Amino acid sequence: MKTSVTKDFKEAISLLRRGELVAFPTETVYGLGACIHHPDAIKKIFSVKGRPADNPLITHVASVSQALELIQDPPPIFYPLADLFWPGPLTLIVPALPSAVSADQPSLAIRMPRHKIAKKILQGVKSPIAAPSANLSGRPSPTTAQAVLEDLSGKIPLIVDGGPCSIGIESTVLSLVHPVPTILRPGRITRHELEEKLKISIEQTQKGPLLSPGMKYRHYAPRAKVRLVFNCEELKGSFLLSRKPIRGKITHLLSSKTLYHTLREADRLNMQEVEIYCDPIVQSDSALMNRLLRAADVDHAME
Ligand code: TXA
Ligand code: MG
Repeated sequence: MKTSVTKDFKEAISLLRRGELVAFPTETVYGLGACIHHPDAIKKIFSVKGRPADNPLITHVASVSQALELIQDPPPIFYPLADLFWPGPLTLIVPALPSAVSADQPSLAIRMPRHKIAKKILQGVKSPIAAPSANLSGRPSPTTAQAVLEDLSGKIPLIVDGGPCSIGIESTVLSLVHPVPTILRPGRITRHELEEKLKISIEQTQKGPLLSPGMKYRHYAPRAKVRLVFNCEELKGSFLLSRKPIRGKITHLLSSKTLYHTLREADRLNMQEVEIYCDPIVQSDSALMNRLLRAADVDHAME
């Protein structure tokens, strides 16, 4: 199959409506979309990505009313959350009937993206779209059309190119099926911001029971070995990422926005090892640290 890359999203709408897969940009990372009303297309997402069958997908919607059609009894907190943070990088897990999209969990992950192209596609398809990140399972999520092509060339008919994603890491995943709303995956929208705006307390999973099936798999990893360094003196400086330049060493900028792009760059250059300097500011960024620990395969259960 030939994979076309285009800036024109109209072709994407007709392919999705016919039950084909299309990669498209969101403000977080590129997604690999399928219309939720095409069961074969949902199955294809799992096979194209090599995704474990027990890892549920996020359903993307164009509006709150479209989300409500998919939800059984939304918990009351759903409404202020959707009102304050949608469209945007927040995924809400709500009670729902088990389905192929949710890998048979009695819950559904839903998000309304803010990216112009994602919105146009959702409005044009007129149906919710299930979309995991558009990478091969385990690889860093794609933040450019080029990165999607690296992983999925020949496997899908179309990639819509919307340039680099503005956020660069995946959405915050907040579960509303627990007695206290719980962050299963940290992201740009932080626990602090949620607590401030909602005036309630929010939990963030640390170690312990794995609530989100996807969290037990190795993630976000380049082929190069990733080594996290917490003491500046221990840096060797092969392919080095740091938040600020370090005297006498060639460094690549470390930021959420460019992390996945730079990890993929290390693979393009056939680097054996990537060193990442985690200074105190990096250590205090829970979303970034979460991705770094997973890329380094330090601890599957850190959340
Ligand atoms: O920013 C994002 O969220 C991107 C863009 C494309 O929207 N999508 C994304 O999807 O990162 P994916 O499939 O790579 O990650 C979804 C995460 C996984 O860890 C999955 O296990 C979890 O959400 N998840 C999905 N449905 C769930 C559910 N019903 N219960 C618990 N966790 C769920
Ligand atoms: Mg993913």
